Amino acid sequence: MKRIAVLTSGGDAPGMNAAIRAVVRTGLEKGCEVFGVQSGYQGLITGDFISMGARDVGGIMQRGGTMLGSARCPEFKTDEGRRKAIQQLDQQGISGLVTIGGNGTQTGAQALSQMGFPVIGVASTIDNDLCGSDITIGVDTALNIALEAIDRLKVTASSHHRAFAVEVMGRDCGYVALMAGIAGGAEAITIPEVETDPEALAREVRDAYERGKPHAIIVAAEGARYNAERLMNYFRDNQVRLGFDLRITVLGHVQRGGTPTFFDRILASRLGAAAAARLSDGEHGVLVGLLKSEIRTTPLAEVVCGKKPLDKHLLELARVLAK
Ligand code: F6P
Repeated sequence: MKRIAVLTSGGDAPGMNAAIRAVVRTGLEKGCEVFGVQSGYQGLITGDFISMGARDVGGIMQRGGTMLGSARCPEFKTDEGRRKAIQQLDQQGISGLVTIGGNGTQTGAQALSQMGFPVIGVASTIDNDLCGSDITIGVDTALNIALEAIDRLKVTASSHHRAFAVEVMGRDCGYVALMAGIAGGAEAITIPEVETDPEALAREVRDAYERGKPHAIIVAAEGARYNAERLMNYFRDNQVRLGFDLRITVLGHVQRGGTPTFFDRILASRLGAAAAARLSDGEHGVLVGLLKSEIRTTPLAEVVCGKKPLDKHLLELARVLAK
């Protein structure tokens, strides 16, 4: 009987549990024995494997996080670390691996694949910055959490006639900030992909004040040159007048810990099931993702080299809709 393993790595994303469940149950259906690797690539190096049956993944779909644990593992970035990982897999007689995660995870998967080990990736990161999937597991939940926070901040901002700079996650990518900004009706958005002129941003906020708005919401990506703190410091140091009093709120990891939405559970179930089925049928070296509403595979080599484009025209949409 074929043995396959599954791991989650990098930043956790709501929906990872549904993906694990789908890998395990589809793998069993295909006649495989399935193992879970604990703590991502760290557990691969130390041989931290657990045998997984259908009952072991019961009751996990509605939980955020990952039942297998996750880690960022510097040792796995070395050849030595990767060789140890393959040795551990060989020792257990495991002949295929499913890696659930974002860019770092799939870079590791591609390295294993190049060393001759069969791997299939599943697209999962709240940042939605992974090539090979129009949308990744966890984004929908993270966005809904960010939106709920923005809606609440707008209420208190209106009561006090204040401005809020709300910082959302996204070290290298502004997708979450852009989408949360549009859906949350933000007056301004800052993202890493586009240079922000803080003076122009201040003018937008002042204009909003003069048009009689009771609040102003600025959604800032953590990786933007002007994230919430740097924006606040700039306004303070340069004595920039906004009309409103400014407060900042950094949402941080709150966005990653939510109960997965319907969308994320379905996406994770479909991607996880497809990955296990394809791996047991002998396909590997690819990422499973959702492209134009269909489950598709993209070679890992393309996934890790590419940069997912962000539709910057949406910034203009956000500006127009904030009238
Ligand atoms: O990759 C997902 C992400 O949430 C990024 O948006 C964020 O910059 C990073 O992870 C935070 O990483 P950590 O959980 O290791 O602090």
